Amino acid sequence: SPSPASAEHPASGPEIPGTPASPAGTREPPLGAIGTARPRIEGPAKVSGAVRYASDEPMSGVAHGWVVTSTVTRGRIRDIDTSVALAMPGVVGVIDHRNAPEVNLEAGSFFGPDGGMHLLQSAEIPHSGRPIALVVADTAEQARSAALALRVTYDEEPYDVDFHREHPAARPATSFFGEDATVGDVDEELAASTVVVDESYATPEEHGAAMEPHAATAWWEDGRLQIIDSNQGPFLVAMTVATLFRLDPKQVRVRSAHVGGGFGSKSGGCGPQLVLAVMATGMFDRPVRVTLTRNQVFQTVSMRPATDQRVRIGADADGRLRAIDHTAAFEVSKLAEYLENCTELTNTLYAARAIRTRRTAVPIDILPPYSLRGPGATPGSFALESAMDEVAERLGIDPLELRLRNEPSAGPVSGLPFSRRNLVACLKEGARRFGWTTRDHRPRRRTEGHLLVGTGMAAMSFGAGALPSSASITAEADGTFTVAIGASDIGTGARTALTAVAAEALRADPERIRLLIADSDLGPAWGAGGSRGTTSWSWAITETAARLRSRLDGATLPLTVSFDTTESLGELALLERHSYGAVFSEVTVDPATGEVRVRRLLGMFAVGRVVNPLLARSQLVGGMIMGLSMALHEEGVRDRASGRHVNADFAGYHIAAHADVPDIEADFVPDYEPGDPSGIKGVGEIGTVSAAAAIANAVWHATGRRQRTLPIRLDRVL
Ligand code: MOS
Repeated sequence: SPSPASAEHPASGPEIPGTPASPAGTREPPLGAIGTARPRIEGPAKVSGAVRYASDEPMSGVAHGWVVTSTVTRGRIRDIDTSVALAMPGVVGVIDHRNAPEVNLEAGSFFGPDGGMHLLQSAEIPHSGRPIALVVADTAEQARSAALALRVTYDEEPYDVDFHREHPAARPATSFFGEDATVGDVDEELAASTVVVDESYATPEEHGAAMEPHAATAWWEDGRLQIIDSNQGPFLVAMTVATLFRLDPKQVRVRSAHVGGGFGSKSGGCGPQLVLAVMATGMFDRPVRVTLTRNQVFQTVSMRPATDQRVRIGADADGRLRAIDHTAAFEVSKLAEYLENCTELTNTLYAARAIRTRRTAVPIDILPPYSLRGPGATPGSFALESAMDEVAERLGIDPLELRLRNEPSAGPVSGLPFSRRNLVACLKEGARRFGWTTRDHRPRRRTEGHLLVGTGMAAMSFGAGALPSSASITAEADGTFTVAIGASDIGTGARTALTAVAAEALRADPERIRLLIADSDLGPAWGAGGSRGTTSWSWAITETAARLRSRLDGATLPLTVSFDTTESLGELALLERHSYGAVFSEVTVDPATGEVRVRRLLGMFAVGRVVNPLLARSQLVGGMIMGLSMALHEEGVRDRASGRHVNADFAGYHIAAHADVPDIEADFVPDYEPGDPSGIKGVGEIGTVSAAAAIANAVWHATGRRQRTLPIRLDRVL
């Protein structure tokens, strides 16, 4: 059923002030396709098992590759004895650094060349779990037993997997998302403050843990490299493969019809499953499928880096902030640059006379971290929003009121105007629904039987906008439309949302839209990442539809129009554009065992116009569950004595289970993004951003004990 607020949420743009005329310049009313709760188009096929994920596609003659990973953390391979393996039944061959094709070492992600993708290029072992060989056989079982028969010897070298802020190798991080902030004089303002909170906050390595493990099938057909791969953006992956293997981009086709979650772990360049499958199909002249085991996903696919952050906030007695100083360190690999942009919220959420942010990268011997579930903002908000709660405590004021008193009128660092904010509406409406106003703000005041009860809140934002994408739309002779865009649906319902966007843009019933996605041949498109998938793809669809409609009168059908948004997105940089939200939590703590149970979570969000309230709410609830999981469970543990993951599976790496998930409410305040053709912003990651801080603040409220290190384990509560 639709979310409770969908009735009060306007179904179409023109009812909201500031809504532009329809893209084609007409004044016809839209059909209300946007704003209507519809279940996922592919839902029945998914629950009946009919859809095919990357490793499901039946294919004759396919060989299976089994990945072999390093058992040492740093050093060199001395020898890989393949003789036994090669003689085993069904074995097609073994690829290692001695026979692997050379790859282009310039290939990487947005942050630059990424050695994580340059597999089997040398005998060097840069981190534990590094893929060192692929064993290919007729069946996966044969490949696996042959992989176990490889005899690998190493020359080990000392390694450093010990991340901490004061590490000797610590250095300023890349300024990829803008420079560090220096506004006003932080030290002067701190000295003049009535209260100063100066605390450190730590978050561990966290893993994407998508339900579908990474898998790829690759084969050559008619001079083209054909790929079925589990990823978050088939066009971007195709470009990376072309660069990596020095192919003409036109030679590479990537399809990803259905993807069982990504959470960032399928967003960076191209995954090890695909690098190895492409190598193998080239060498053995057969289609090759590589599926990672769960353990291999943990070891070979990017994770969120651990962070160690110091926040200093100075405030006057009335709660006005004088200074925010946020110094965030995070681990990186020596193989690739990456920015965990922990200070994103610090630059934009609150007004203060002085704001200073510094980002520090600490290179150690680990596989390259990458974006995961609200990258930067999520660990960053844990620090900032916990520290804000500590400021409220020290001042003896309502933490909600503290936020309201520091609402900025323009970007506190950028000075740019906000496109739309509506954070205050989220805070106030969330507080009203949650029952925040009756809260006694002193800690350890509420009990129920032997349990301590507490509530906490946090504010949040996440960058919004659109990135270049292209679409083609064909008006068919039978009155239907074929809409083609290289989007991907990683389980979020993008198919359904984009069908609604296309229906509205074409003034057509959704039943008349045939949407083609998940294929790099459909043209350049951004991926399902950075919470910018729906905005980027919708922009392209809407602009293309407008151009098609203007040519339809008297046209001979079928008529196809294509458009690329690269040129239309220029002015986005001139505004502070973010999604916003406020999250409230209630927890119980057992003082005997330290067990924390989250009893309630409520989030109110300002995410622009909501394309599909059912799916958007689901996305936000999912994000809040990830925040809960981050708060209480998730922790990638690295053994200093071996350099390896201790808990590289779901037995050891805990994620929230159904029994952990309470009554969760997520809803929207009326909002509209004036700078977007459809009025929308992203809902992808905002839900997860500050949930952990809200829970940690509630645990303090219940117990009187601050939680500055995640996860909130039993031993940290007691
Ligand atoms: Mo998302 S973590 O930006 O793929």
